[in-house]
Amino acid sequence: MGKINIAIDGYSSTGKSTIAKQLAKALGYIYVDTGAMYRAVTLYAMRHGLIGETEEELKRLVTHLPKINLQFVHNADLGFSEMYLNGENVEKEIRALPVSKQVSKVATLEAVRKKLVAMQQEMGKRKGVVMDGRDIGTDVFPDAEFKIFMTASPETRAFRRYKELLEKGEKVTYDEVLVNVRYRDAIDSNRKFSPLKKAENAIEFDNSDMGLEEQLDRIYNYALRKIEETNA
Ligand code: DC
Repeated sequence: MGKINIAIDGYSSTGKSTIAKQLAKALGYIYVDTGAMYRAVTLYAMRHGLIGETEEELKRLVTHLPKINLQFVHNADLGFSEMYLNGENVEKEIRALPVSKQVSKVATLEAVRKKLVAMQQEMGKRKGVVMDGRDIGTDVFPDAEFKIFMTASPETRAFRRYKELLEKGEKVTYDEVLVNVRYRDAIDSNRKFSPLKKAENAIEFDNSDMGLEEQLDRIYNYALRKIEETNA
């Protein structure tokens, strides 16, 4: 059976990566977390003093792009890939709040987006990829056979993120996380290059009141139908 590409876009903390990972596993597809790529570039910028307040300051990062090497390395114990920045496993650091606070700014830069989108398109060339992000169904794979757009209320999303961060031992407050969720929504939706928006032919999925099992069941069945249609 020929494989398809699956694009999962939506607001931050809507559980895109959870469903993308589950779906990839169920279908035997490769999961690609594009947020991890923007986060790793942001970590590089933070470490090199390249996070500025103005767009002009931030643009200094563009001259560093050729020096930034990103790699997904499969971790067999975990069952998914981890992000390596210039040979270093940065998986933990890129998920922490300091990076979350800066990443949307970095993701507004056209040169950063161009570099990462080209890498993502290369990964999807042979199909069989489940990719999550903000612009996958609109820019990276406009021809993806199956597109999902995930939403949930900002409060639901902030609470999920807050619990996740506490479990990881981070010292954060719910209010701080909610402010970050709203801030990222605003920047992601209003930026000039590839703003977050639902692709015309994407299925919208609000999971505010849905359990993980029901969500996987419904999305998996949709995916099977799309695979059948594509192979018909
Ligand atoms: O999915 P995430 O929260 O790990 O993404 C981190 C940030 O990266 C998010 O604020 C928006 C940006 N991003 C993007 O602009 N385009 C993508 N394809 C993925 C993430």
